[in-house]
Amino acid sequence: MADRDSRAGTRYYDPAILDYVEKVHASHDPGLEAAFTSPDRDRMPAIQVGKSEGRLLEVLVRMVGARRAIEIGTLAGYSAIRLARALADGGRLWTIEVVPEHAEVARRNIAAAAISERVEVVLGDAMAVLPALEQHGPFDAVFIDADKERYDQYGRWAARHLRPGGLLVGDNAFLFGNLLQDTPAGQAMRRFHEEAAAAFDSVCVPTPDGLLVGLKR
Ligand code: SAH
Ligand code: DHB
Ligand code: MG
Repeated sequence: MADRDSRAGTRYYDPAILDYVEKVHASHDPGLEAAFTSPDRDRMPAIQVGKSEGRLLEVLVRMVGARRAIEIGTLAGYSAIRLARALADGGRLWTIEVVPEHAEVARRNIAAAAISERVEVVLGDAMAVLPALEQHGPFDAVFIDADKERYDQYGRWAARHLRPGGLLVGDNAFLFGNLLQDTPAGQAMRRFHEEAAAAFDSVCVPTPDGLLVGLKR
């Protein structure tokens, strides 16, 4: 929409409309549903991407024909299952998680979704383990969804290790509404935006918390 109200921030959805479009476009089979509801059952924060954003990840990964993908921030494996299912034949996803309990739950959910043979859950701090994954690159897609004060570093890593045309996606690009604050996370997230715009054909999709999408030049 490009009317005056929507440019000023008016949104035309409400919970019932979101529920309808999620059901029509982004519904879950049992594997996805188990992973999506797992944080509430398994005493983890319920901070996984929404259903429509998970579906968007799938569509984007298919659009670029990705075979090798990296995810930073696994949680219970919901977005990992979305990403892995969208990979081309013979594809592989490396998803990085620093909390051992999260990694263990994610491995279980990924196995239950019957996609384990395509996914490696890598336990450790992303900045520490990314160098060891470089041998599997260059990559076709990188999804960033972990510690917000390091998005600038993750974005730079992605720019170095994605192929030309490769897909970058970053969740929480509005930083929970704090994007413009002069905090370390605000400054890092703004650097992420600005450096992504310089190295990628990029856009920030106004999902509830912003989703940066870019294609490497
Ligand atoms: N992508 C997931 C949600 C990730 S939530 C989904 O949508 O389903 C963010 C996750 O990042 C948490 O599990 C948190 O433990 C992990 N995390 C935070 N900092 C990290 C780091 N430095 N390295 C790896 N994982 C990290
Ligand atoms: C948090 C992290 C996320 O990636 C998210 O999408 C929502 C919340 C958090 O750390 O609180
Ligand atoms: Mg997130």
